[in-house]
Amino acid sequence: MNAPIRVALTGAAGNIGYALVFRIANGDLFGPGQPVQLRLLEIPPAMKTLEGVAMELEDGAFPLLHDVILTDDARMAFDGANWALLVGARPRGKGMERADLLGANAPIFKAQGAALNERAAADIRVVVVGNPANTNCLVAQRNAPDIPAERFTAMTRLDHNRAKSQLAKKAGVPVAEVTRVTVWGNHSGTQYPDAYHALIGGRPAPEVIGDEYWIREVFIPTVQKRGSAVIEARGQSSAGSAANALINHVQSWYGGTPAGDWVSMAVHSAGAYGAPEGVFFSYPVTIRDGVYQIVEGLDLSPFDRERLRITGEELLQERQDALQVLP
Ligand code: NAD
Ligand code: LMR
Repeated sequence: MNAPIRVALTGAAGNIGYALVFRIANGDLFGPGQPVQLRLLEIPPAMKTLEGVAMELEDGAFPLLHDVILTDDARMAFDGANWALLVGARPRGKGMERADLLGANAPIFKAQGAALNERAAADIRVVVVGNPANTNCLVAQRNAPDIPAERFTAMTRLDHNRAKSQLAKKAGVPVAEVTRVTVWGNHSGTQYPDAYHALIGGRPAPEVIGDEYWIREVFIPTVQKRGSAVIEARGQSSAGSAANALINHVQSWYGGTPAGDWVSMAVHSAGAYGAPEGVFFSYPVTIRDGVYQIVEGLDLSPFDRERLRITGEELLQERQDALQVLP
């Protein structure tokens, strides 16, 4: 058996946390030969609920789960962590935008960035899920000056999966036939789910779908607004699909992307494709040996460029709004 991988999860007693921990314990992140240790972080009022979650983990008798520590101290949670899944944060309710959460949530990521810097393992990899995810990721990264920026990512895999499913449904094919989907920019209403570079059954998606109106006026807004649609229907934000997307994000980063395909991840921008520098911008990436690379050489149309500009501007505005917690 390999040495255990230590995974820190914040907000472990919340909705996403509850949908996630059993899958992590089951080995879904790193495969069936790889044991895991869980470090579950919560705030003091949620510690009792967290104890109940831990009881259920114990009752699952998961062979790959080597030990579980519950704590309300971020430094203890991140001590020696190889992976940090930063989920714990307030979710939005009906009628709110994700950016409305910045004031409440950014300070959480400032403190957690500092704790990661102090205590995480040298190979730490961070995925931020708590909203607004891209800018919270920036806040955590900037407060962790000793950790390379490349080790921080924010999750846009849920948007990526949503885009894939919508294209598959429209084309009447299984989702596995849809490849090279990209979500560009912010995990927000300005994100740009890109069907133009996607393939369906190996052919250009626009050609297979043959309905330009649908791509621009139905597909794009459906993916952009899917989080709100789920909140409207469920009365709570997405949890099962978010946990699933987080598992997919880690699986890709750890295990790599399949030949000929890519995934979407918000990563530290050095300005590729004209995005603003220094924000966390979602790009198409391929991954080998745990290292991601932004897909190069995609031809962007004026329509694509305008969409990237809009979402990039929103990220700059969010960064401006978060200045107080950015060193
Ligand atoms: P939730 O309210 O059910 O759970 C959040 C948990 O975080 C709570 O148990 C809370 O006690 C805990 N928490 C709060 N502050 C904390 C802190 N400082 N340290 C540790 N834990 C803390 O919410 P949820 O539905 O699980 O959603 C969590 C976050 O994920 C929200 O911000 C939501 O908007 C976001 N989200 C992002 C995506 C995405 O695609 N990026 C998808 C779904 C949800
Ligand atoms: C989602 O995309 O479902 C989450 O970010 C929750 C939300 O607020 O939309």
